[in-house]
Amino acid sequence: PSTLATSISISGDISSQLHAGYSHPLSRVWQAERQLTKEMLIYPLFITDNPDEETPISSLPNQCRRGLNRLIPFLSPLVQKGLRSVILFGVPLDPSAKDFFGTAADDPAGPVILAIRLLRSHFPQLYIVADVCLCEYTSHGHCGILRDDGSLNNAASVERISDVALAYAVAGAHCVAPSDMNDGRVRAIKLKLIDAGIAHQVLLMSYSAKFSGCLYGPFRDAAGSAPSFGDRKCYQLPPAGRGLARRAIQRDIAEGADIIMVKPAGSYLDIISDAKQLARDMPIAAYQVSGEYAMIHAGAKAGLFDLKAMAFESTEGILRAGAGIVVSYFVPDFLEWLSR
Ligand code: PBG
Ligand code: ZN
Repeated sequence: PSTLATSISISGDISSQLHAGYSHPLSRVWQAERQLTKEMLIYPLFITDNPDEETPISSLPNQCRRGLNRLIPFLSPLVQKGLRSVILFGVPLDPSAKDFFGTAADDPAGPVILAIRLLRSHFPQLYIVADVCLCEYTSHGHCGILRDDGSLNNAASVERISDVALAYAVAGAHCVAPSDMNDGRVRAIKLKLIDAGIAHQVLLMSYSAKFSGCLYGPFRDAAGSAPSFGDRKCYQLPPAGRGLARRAIQRDIAEGADIIMVKPAGSYLDIISDAKQLARDMPIAAYQVSGEYAMIHAGAKAGLFDLKAMAFESTEGILRAGAGIVVSYFVPDFLEWLSR
């Protein structure tokens, strides 16, 4: 008998032989339907109203709040390494900046609008996304305008949110991304962009399926946006609400969203996959949020796994589920890791 016949059974099913397909580092890479590239990444930036500020955020390892004067020096090396896109969050530190209506959100001299202008002029290739919400700017920390009884006034909130989105778009944002979860805001924003004659050049990325939960804690530390009373459960989705998420996604497609986002990402991979199926002709984005990032750092610090390996594994899971765009605090790391 030949040695071949003794090492594998010739009567065995040949389709059982899988190892050959991924025995080499390159053939392992070939197994991915979608490969992580720098173009897929959007990096969150926290921008304060104090121009010289650069303060590490203790619950969000390696991330800082920065003032306008710190942005260019910080971003230049990242752009050099292939950073393509950032998403801007305003963080007013001046206590007088917050009021009932979130007036500071579209202050022409506020940090977001100034940052949009600065980044557009300094990095012409950088794609600027502006997160649109009121919670960083309202005295009560909720994502809209409230009624006297403390509940959300949806109509007033949509009116205000869409004004803010328009202001960011007029200032030069390539993309506006409402994260407030008020009903009907996508349509209202799209209509105002059309009215202003800029709808053809401003992309609307909707945080369509945004779940309430405990993964936003470090972000709220960073942005100082924790609600002063109550919670966000009457506008953010319940974690078990898969059907509701599907309805929210379909609603936002119908209202004119250009990109559908799912957030958080890692615990909601089925929702990302639903979004890809429901919006199969649109790009799908996923936000690996502050709590997910902080957990990965904590796990790595505790010696449970390697940081880089877990950053890749978690992000590849998000891509496999159907996302083609990932908002991630790991972007500076990925720019390094993907260069090798
Ligand atoms: C504000 C907003 C939040 C995030 C993005 N936009 C916080 C929240 O809804 O409380 C979370 C991002 C993160 O946790 O990294 N509307
Ligand atoms: Zn908000």
